[in-house]
Amino acid sequence: MIGTGYVGLVSGVCFADIGNQVICVDKDKNKIDKLNSGISPIYEPGLYELIKKNFTAKRLSFTSNIDRAINTSDIIFICVGTPTKKGSINVDLSFVYKCTKEILKYSKRKKIIVTKSTVPVGTGDEIEKILKKKKKLFTVISNPEFLREGEAIRDFRYPDRIVVGSNEKKPLNIMRKLYAPITNKGSKFFTTSRRGAELIKYASNAFLATKITFINELANLCERSGVNVEDISLGMGSDSRIGGRFLRAGPAYGGSCFPKDTKGLVSVAEKYKINLSVVKSVIKSNQERVNLLTKRVHKILGSNLKNKKISFLGVTFKPNTDDMRDSTSLKMIPYLCKKGAVVNYYDPSGHKKEFKKIKNCFFKRDIKSNCLKADLIILLTEWDEFKSLNFRSITKNKKVKVYDLRNLYNNDEMKKDNLEYYSIGRS
Ligand SMILES: NC(=O)c1ccc[n+]([C@@H]2O[C@H](COP(=O)([O-])OP(=O)(O)OC[C@H]3O[C@@H](n4cnc5c(N)ncnc54)[C@H](O)[C@@H]3O)[C@@H](O)[C@H]2O)c1
Repeated sequence: MIGTGYVGLVSGVCFADIGNQVICVDKDKNKIDKLNSGISPIYEPGLYELIKKNFTAKRLSFTSNIDRAINTSDIIFICVGTPTKKGSINVDLSFVYKCTKEILKYSKRKKIIVTKSTVPVGTGDEIEKILKKKKKLFTVISNPEFLREGEAIRDFRYPDRIVVGSNEKKPLNIMRKLYAPITNKGSKFFTTSRRGAELIKYASNAFLATKITFINELANLCERSGVNVEDISLGMGSDSRIGGRFLRAGPAYGGSCFPKDTKGLVSVAEKYKINLSVVKSVIKSNQERVNLLTKRVHKILGSNLKNKKISFLGVTFKPNTDDMRDSTSLKMIPYLCKKGAVVNYYDPSGHKKEFKKIKNCFFKRDIKSNCLKADLIILLTEWDEFKSLNFRSITKNKKVKVYDLRNLYNNDEMKKDNLEYYSIGRS
């Protein structure tokens, strides 16, 4: 596995757990040192235990020596990042191409190269071009990853489908064998062309982002028209053609995938002179959502935020992960601090380097000290430990207001406690 991030590490550990010999390689020596001394560099439920089990059983090893990793492997998974290029919507493929060049340099015998990273349609062809000097040694196929952070191990073991794209038959059979312990439990093994697999991944993420954005916009209408958005989600979602998942209104979608993949898809389409107008408006609507939420904070606390005490419960883009990439908190907190508010935050995954340099922003080690004397508590991430809080006892301010961006709490119960309570898409 080249790249020991959320995808490479989880996939590597899970492949080892079903009996394969796995070497995880990363150019970040610090990550490898941590892993070799038994520390997981990321927070993912259940991951640490699996690392320990498979490392001890000698099925799993970690190295920054890419030469050794490449030479001892039959199948090489590329799991490096594919971020958005700075200042554009294009996909930055430099990490993918750099490790392809390393594979070319160090390979001495036949290998299957599998792109697990999310890459634009046609990237496999570009990888082949880089490898053409030793082209007989390589088969390049695509096997995009669909795991979700926070549920990654379960998703790897019980995926809805495994997508493998190849222009040749033989590597498909090898992949079928590799995934047999998973498909034997009922997961679908779906094969297509290499380009097809590359596009399926972007299409899936763009569609899910569209669903979230759709319900977020409807939530705005619900607030104005006196309707409960949860009823809309249930009523719509019960239609099997629509499905209820990804229809929960909340903050803007974030994380390491949806924001970059929606942009990536639009940029690839533009290369082919195709206008993906739906996806474009999803991106725009999502960007505007953060402004809408901060405007709401002004409505709740007034236009002058100077010295107002605002406490965030959760700052990661979703629970059970430490990932901060494109979280709504990255825009809301700096804005509120700039307006003079004093912002405390508590997140079960710990303090965040992203807020270190922001004046008036403080990490608190527990819920109580975070919320003490707050004027406004903003629930941003629905971690389990926030699910049954007694706001009256955690803050000494009788006039505390609560803004629940995940509709975690019940309107009537909050009213019973005499709390000024705001949520999403409820009248
Ligand atoms: N994070 C997710 O939930 C998720 C889910 C599905 C697909 N993906 C896709 O998987 C890919 C990886 O995502 P991630 O979140 O795991 O990224 P990440 O940033 O967490 O990890 C990438 C790792 O690759 C390493 N790396 C980069 N270049 C390298 C090289 N030449 N040699 C060795 N190591 C190198 C980096 O040091 C880093 O540790 C992306 O394309 C992403 O879109 C991510």
